[in-house]
Amino acid sequence: MQFNEVVRARRSVRAFRPDPVAPEVLREVLGTACLAPSGTNIQPWKVHVVTGDARRRLEEEVLAHRDTRPADDRAEFPRTSKRKEPYTSRMRALGKDMYGRIGIPRGDEAASWQQWGRNYRFFDAPVGLIFTIDKDLDAMSFLDIGMFMQTLMLAAKDRGLDTCAQGAWNMFWTVTRRVLSIPDDEYIIAGMALGYADHAHPVNGVVAPREPLEQVVTFHE
Ligand SMILES: Cc1cc2nc3c(=O)[nH]c(=O)nc-3n(C[C@H](O)[C@H](O)[C@H](O)COP(=O)(O)O)c2cc1C
Repeated sequence: MQFNEVVRARRSVRAFRPDPVAPEVLREVLGTACLAPSGTNIQPWKVHVVTGDARRRLEEEVLAHRDTRPADDRAEFPRTSKRKEPYTSRMRALGKDMYGRIGIPRGDEAASWQQWGRNYRFFDAPVGLIFTIDKDLDAMSFLDIGMFMQTLMLAAKDRGLDTCAQGAWNMFWTVTRRVLSIPDDEYIIAGMALGYADHAHPVNGVVAPREPLEQVVTFHE
């Protein structure tokens, strides 16, 4: 695919087929992600690739922990669920579209909680990725790992694979840290599901709209 086609074809996929990702394809995609830029080229990204029994164990332990709704489900570093406009409206529009497509009515907290829990099964993708950076790096390194993740998502799309970036993995981080033996001096930033999309699943019909350029750009001349 041409670059523009890859960018436009990438979408967050939240239902995957069980088909495995060939190890050489996975390594190639990860290798391309390593070409992402980083401030002063420090390349702060670290990735845990979770498949097979390791993935099953991670999913089971996180979901069991989550079901108890423990107090430590807050994010590892400051985040907020309180948004102001225009962000609230954009977030709600996404939720309305997504939950509408899979028949979860507004206000059905139990069903929403269950659907959100599919994050912790990597939406049935064969490969799960967990991204970390050292805690003593500054905010620029959060940009660096974001660029790594986007490069990875585009490289995956170029190979016919699909992805979903998952901030959800920044919650329940105590369990993830223990199960994957992630050192205490690293932040668990996010996760990602990687595999082949189940195009028949209604959740994958979600198309997240974008704001017009005028909303985003200020030209200074
Ligand atoms: C940093 C980041 C975290 C995200 N976390 C989640 C998540 O936990 N679960 C999820 O279903 N989607 C998650 N997404 C996907 C976004 O909802 C999605 O990128 C957005 O709605 C735009 O849609 P698109 O990716 O299809 O273009 C995340 C995306 C990013 C960039």
